[in-house]
Amino acid sequence: MHIIGNYEERLSNFNWNISEKELGYKPGDNINIGWYCSDRICNMGKGDKLALIWEGLGGKEKRYTYNDIRQYSNSIGNFLQGLGVKPEERVCLFLDRIPELYIGFLGILKIGAIAQPLFSAFGEESLHVRLENAETTAIITQKKHLGKVRRIVANLPHLRNIIVVDDNAKSPLQDMEVAFNMDESERIDKFEIYPTKAESPSVLHYTSGTTGMPKGVKHVHYSLISQYLTAQWVLDLKENDIYWCTADPGWVTGTSYGIIGAWASGVTQCVNDIGFSADAWYRFIEKHKISVWYSAPTAIRSLMKAGEKVVMNYDLSSLRHLASVGEPLNAEAVIWSEKVFGLPFHDSYWQTETGSIMISNYPGMRIKPGSMGKPFPGIEAAILNQNTYEPIPVGQAGLIGFRPGWPSMMRMYWNNEETYKAKFVNGWYIPGDRAYIDQDGYFWFIGRDDDIINTGGHLVSPFEVESALIEHPAVAESAVVSKPDFVNMEVVKAFVTLKTGYTADEEMELQIMNFIRKKLSPLAMPQEIEFVNGLPKTRSGKIMRRILKAQEWGEEIGDTSSLEDD
Ligand code: PRX
Repeated sequence: MHIIGNYEERLSNFNWNISEKELGYKPGDNINIGWYCSDRICNMGKGDKLALIWEGLGGKEKRYTYNDIRQYSNSIGNFLQGLGVKPEERVCLFLDRIPELYIGFLGILKIGAIAQPLFSAFGEESLHVRLENAETTAIITQKKHLGKVRRIVANLPHLRNIIVVDDNAKSPLQDMEVAFNMDESERIDKFEIYPTKAESPSVLHYTSGTTGMPKGVKHVHYSLISQYLTAQWVLDLKENDIYWCTADPGWVTGTSYGIIGAWASGVTQCVNDIGFSADAWYRFIEKHKISVWYSAPTAIRSLMKAGEKVVMNYDLSSLRHLASVGEPLNAEAVIWSEKVFGLPFHDSYWQTETGSIMISNYPGMRIKPGSMGKPFPGIEAAILNQNTYEPIPVGQAGLIGFRPGWPSMMRMYWNNEETYKAKFVNGWYIPGDRAYIDQDGYFWFIGRDDDIINTGGHLVSPFEVESALIEHPAVAESAVVSKPDFVNMEVVKAFVTLKTGYTADEEMELQIMNFIRKKLSPLAMPQEIEFVNGLPKTRSGKIMRRILKAQEWGEEIGDTSSLEDD
C-alpha cells in the first residue's frame, strides 16, 4: 500500500524509486505494462477480483476478473504472434469502447508490440494519415468500422492484418481480414511475455500540432512508474475503489489512467459505451457504486446544463473522489460539483506528451477553484519568459516549462526528431501553454501559446481544418479559429472566402460541411462557417488568425501594427 502523506511531506522526500519499490521493479529488470496490469495482480492473490465491469447499449453488461484479463490478453497476444506480428511493430486498436479494446491493449504490449489506439469515430482520412505515418502492420477493429479500413487498405503498404473482433461470419471476410472472438477464444494460462525493458516502446498516441500532420507521441514501458504513482497520489486509487475514467483510450487519458494506472493499482474499473446523458451517467455511478471518478470539464459542464434536479433522482453517495483533466476547469464547475455532489472536482493538467499528470489538486489539498493546483512531486515546473526561457517571478504570466526527466515523458515524435527537439529550450520541456503561479505556489492556466483549439478537451489543429476546406473547389481561402461555447469551452469556427462565381449561402455552407466531414474527425468539425470578402493578413500574405479570434471572443485586438507587416 502506498504511504499516506501530505503534499509538502511527499515533496521533500520524493524519489521516483518510491514507485519502483511499490511495483517491485529494480533498474535493469524487465518491465512490461501488460504484465503489471494483469499477471502481477493475480500473483498478489487477486485473480478473482473484478478488473472490468463493462456496459454497452441496451443494458448489455460484461464482467472480467483479473484472471480473465490476464488469460484473454495472453490469447490476443498469442493470436497476434500467430499472424506474424513482431516486437515494436505498431498494432492499431480501432474499436469502440468494448472490452477487446482494453484487454487487447494489454495483449499487444505483452508481445512487445506498440499499441496505437485511435478513436473509432475517425473517418477514413484521419485513420489513413495515422496508419501511414506509423507504418502500422495490424489493425484490430469491429465489423461496423471495417468499411473505413477497406477503403484505405490499398494505400497502406505496411498493413498486413486486419483483425475483426466481432465477426459473426455471416458476411465473408476479405483478403487480409481474420476473425478473432475474444470471449470464445481459448484462454491461455501460460504465456511467454516479451522481455521489454524500461526504454522499450509501448504506446503511440497521435496528437494535433499547429502545422502539418498529427504527431505520433511515442511512450515506453517505464512510463508505468509515473502513471502508477500519480494514479495513487492524485486520483487517490485505493484497494477497494470502484473507478470510472470517462475518457476514450483513443485519447491519452483513456490509456494512462483508463487502463494502465487503474489496473496496475489493482482496482475494479467500470467502462461504458453508451454515450452521454446526465441520467445515464448518474445511473451508472449509482448502479456500480463508483467511488473515484476521473472526467473532463466538458462533461461536467454538460451535467451542469442538465441541472441539479436530475442529481436528486440518484444515490451518488458512493462517490469519494472526483478529478478532471483536458481543458480549463472553470471555478463555477468546481463550486457546482461541491454543491451537488458534496465533493469538488480536482483539476489536473498534463498532455499526451507528458504521459502522466504534471500539475494537480491533490486529495486533501485546499482547492482554489479555477487553479490547476501544484506540480506532482518529482516534477520541476516553472513559468518562463517567452523570449529568454528563464523563470520569471511569481504572479507574472509566461510559458509553462518542465525540467525533463520524469519516467513517462514521451521519447520521440514518431519519425519526427526535428519537431521533438524543438519542444526543448534552455533545458526545459515546453508544453506550449501559458500560465502564472500565485504566492502560494498554485498554477493558473491562461491559454495555449499557439493557435491550437481545445474543443471539449480535444486538440484541433486549425491548419488541418483549413487544409480540408481549401480542397473544396469553391473555397479560395480560409482561417480557422475558436469561438466561445458554454459546454465545450471552445468550438471550431471557419472563415471562408469563395472563388468568383460561387454564392455564399446556406446551401454552400452545407455543401462544404459535407465535403470536409469525410476528411476530418468529427471532433474537428467547425460548428459554423462564416463567409467573408477577405481575411486579415500580414504584408507577406500570412493570415492572422489572432485578429479573427479576438473578434469572436470580444477581446481587444491588441497590437495590429504587424497587420500589414511581418
Ligand atoms: O492546453 C493544455 C490542455 O490540453 C493540452 C493537452 O492536450 P492532450 O495532449 O490532448 O492531453 C489532454 C489530456 C491529458 C494541454 O497542453 N489541458 C490539459 N489539461 C488541462 C488543460 N488546460 C487547462 N487545464 C487543464 N487541467
